[in-house]
Amino acid sequence: MKVGFLQFKPVFGDKVVNLKKVRSLLDFISADIVVLPELFNTGYLFTEKKELAELAEEIPGETTQFLMGISREKDMHIVAGMPERAKNKFFNSTLLIYPNGRYKIYRKIHLFCEEKFFFNIGDIPFKVYRIGRVKIGMLICFDWIFPEAARSLALSGAQIICHPSNLVLPYCQSAMVTRAIENRIFIITVNRIGREKRGGKELKFTGMSQIVAPSGKVLYRAGKSEEIVKIVEIRPEDADNKKITDYNDVIKDRRPNFYRKIVQ
Ligand code: ACM
Repeated sequence: MKVGFLQFKPVFGDKVVNLKKVRSLLDFISADIVVLPELFNTGYLFTEKKELAELAEEIPGETTQFLMGISREKDMHIVAGMPERAKNKFFNSTLLIYPNGRYKIYRKIHLFCEEKFFFNIGDIPFKVYRIGRVKIGMLICFDWIFPEAARSLALSGAQIICHPSNLVLPYCQSAMVTRAIENRIFIITVNRIGREKRGGKELKFTGMSQIVAPSGKVLYRAGKSEEIVKIVEIRPEDADNKKITDYNDVIKDRRPNFYRKIVQ
């Protein structure tokens, strides 16, 4: 299976430019799944709710149709983050688009920093979706710091976690190596690059999008500031072997009776 990511610098508020950029970068690739960053069509640093209200879209909407067009043309699944308007709520969402026009949504559950002022907390449980025989889960950016999130997807059978991100803290890329090892799954973390300076605030995004194997091996890690599309070949079934030694299975050896506080 060919999986990959697109790391780039969205321009805040300029969907026309961002969509055009994504189209041009995806034009020459072929893959089974390609993952785009969190909020890829709008940028990240909202300064007021009104701005978000103007830029967020219903799903399906203009950006969904755009992704569906590429997905159909290229016979490629696309996972991409965007702000979603759903009635009077706003979610930091990720879409999984199938070439046949079907789509699935995940809404970010763990909001980072001032996202809490703008977005509602996601209301869709962690779920695993099939692409043929392959099982896919989705997380968004700061979900990474809660091991329960990746674990929930692994327990539901996810072989690959697609993880659109806009990372600003320096920890995630290293932490996801551990998330991959402890769950024995593939993780595609896709970050954006560049800075956003708005409303007296400034954020620098850390790039280094990466694909990690169940062994913890980093199959590819991008640079901190390069615009890049990268595709690698993986065997999703490698994620079905949960053994880390002959006598240890990271799923079967769990002792939930001793972890009760985790679900309180
Ligand atoms: C983040 O959750 N965008 C850091």
